[in-house]
Amino acid sequence: MFSGGTDTTFASIEWALSELIRHPEAMKRLQQEVTQVSKGRSMITEDDIHNMPYLKAVLKETLRLHTILPLMLPHESMDDVKVMGYDIKKGTQVMINGWAIARDPSIWNDAEMFNPDRFMNSCVDFKGFHYELLPFGSGRRGCPGMQFAISITELVLANLVYKYEFALPNGIRSEELDMTEVVGLLVRKRDPLLVVPFARF
Ligand code: HEM
Repeated sequence: MFSGGTDTTFASIEWALSELIRHPEAMKRLQQEVTQVSKGRSMITEDDIHNMPYLKAVLKETLRLHTILPLMLPHESMDDVKVMGYDIKKGTQVMINGWAIARDPSIWNDAEMFNPDRFMNSCVDFKGFHYELLPFGSGRRGCPGMQFAISITELVLANLVYKYEFALPNGIRSEELDMTEVVGLLVRKRDPLLVVPFARF
C-alpha cells in the first residue's frame, strides 16, 4: 500500500505540473478556473474540486500521456478465453500495455499531444469502465487507492497553481523542458522537475 501509494501520486503531480509548464495556455486556463472557484479564499478545498472540470480534464490527459504503471500488474486468466482471435489458456500470465492503449492513434486524435480539451465534453473516464483509458487498471484487481489518488492529486495540483506561478531556472524556456521518461515498473521523469515558484497574490 505504501509503495503503491507514494511514488505513483508523486509522479502524477510531477508530470501534470511539467505538462502545464510546457503548455502555458493550459496553465492560464486552469489558474483562471481555480481562482474563480476559490472566491478569494486562501486554500482550495475538496468541495471546490467538484466545480473544476478543467482540472479534472488536465489530470485525465496527464495520466493518459503518462500512464504511471504502463504494464499495470501481472494478471492471470482464470479460464480458457478467446480475445480478438487469440486463444489464452487458463493460468496464462497476462500483461496489459495500458501505456500503448492510451497513445493508440486509432483511438485518440493527435495521440501524442497534451490536450485536456479532449475530455471536456467526453464521457470517457479513467475509473476502469472505459478500456481506452486505464491508468488505474480495471476490475477486481484494479487500483484500490484510485479515489484517494485522484482526490489528493487534484487537491495538490489545484492549490499549487492557485498560489504560484512557476518559472524554469537558468532561462530554460517552457517548450525546452525535457520530458524524457525513465521506464521501469513506474514511468518517472528522468530529470526531476525544478521550478522557481512566485506567489500569485
Ligand atoms: C496516481 C496514482 C496511482 C496510479 C496511477 C495507480 C495505478 C495502479 C495500477 C495501474 C494498478 C494495477 C491495476 C491492475 O493491474 O489492474 C494499481 C494497483 C494497486 N494500487 Fe495503485 N495507483 C495509484 C495510487 C495508489 C494509491 C494512493 C494507493 C494506496 C493508498 C495504491 C495502492 C495500490 C495497490 C495496493 C495495488 C494492488 C492491488 C491488487 O493487486 O489487488 N495506488 N495501481
